[in-house]
Amino acid sequence: MNPRIAIITGTGLANLVPQTTERITIPYSDIAHFPVSTVQSHSGRLVCTRLDGIPLLIMEGRCHLYEGYDPATVTFPVRIMKALGIETLLLSNAAGGIDPSLCPGDILLIRDHINLTGENALVGEHDPAWGDRFPDMSEAYPKRLRTLATQIAADRNISCREGVYAGLKGPSLETPAEIRFLRAIGADAVGFSTVQEVIVAKQCAIEVLGLSVITNVHRPENPIASSLAEIVEVAGRTSQRLQKLITAMIPIIAGRQV
Ligand code: HPA
Repeated sequence: MNPRIAIITGTGLANLVPQTTERITIPYSDIAHFPVSTVQSHSGRLVCTRLDGIPLLIMEGRCHLYEGYDPATVTFPVRIMKALGIETLLLSNAAGGIDPSLCPGDILLIRDHINLTGENALVGEHDPAWGDRFPDMSEAYPKRLRTLATQIAADRNISCREGVYAGLKGPSLETPAEIRFLRAIGADAVGFSTVQEVIVAKQCAIEVLGLSVITNVHRPENPIASSLAEIVEVAGRTSQRLQKLITAMIPIIAGRQV
């Protein structure tokens, strides 16, 4: 099929491109060296399929640093994507809102990230075949794709805005003091994924678009408890809007008229 576009689905967002054909589904456990998510809200299947004839590779679920995987393992699927010829990667995730103007169910287009995981997938022995030792990160989330997403969202009445994603290791959620800190350093949303994948994608010249679904909003002055059940429920409720946006973007990214 030779897909050039791939999608990674986040918590509660597994079925982001439902109307596809010729689906070939491979459990991660059947793929040599592929990390298997230990989190129930991540299904763990690689899907090779077509949308409107356009070949797509979809990773339903990912693994995380907080599961005990090292950054090289977490990002191994991105390396595989590069080897398979992927040029554009759409990453989705569930995230906690930090900007007080965000609401649960909002879609945040990631403009930039802050890597606070304490890890970097490029640490260690360097193989020049993968790209630069010191990849530039001044535009890790290319403006071209963000502008396209913003236009398509506006055309289809899907509200979405840009913001900065802070990537933490987790898995404990943030304290009110941590939220104040994250806000002070310029983060709009927080989550436990994506940043390592983007670092590796940037190194190996895969263009990324990051989409966060805001599942809960932190209010450090008046903290309210959040739960995984709530996060999964809000992500599921929002996934239809994200589906619409992604489905509309794919033909355009693939260089075709809608
Ligand atoms: N923190 C970290 N990750 C998350 C959150 C959060 O509040 N919500 C959804 N994923």
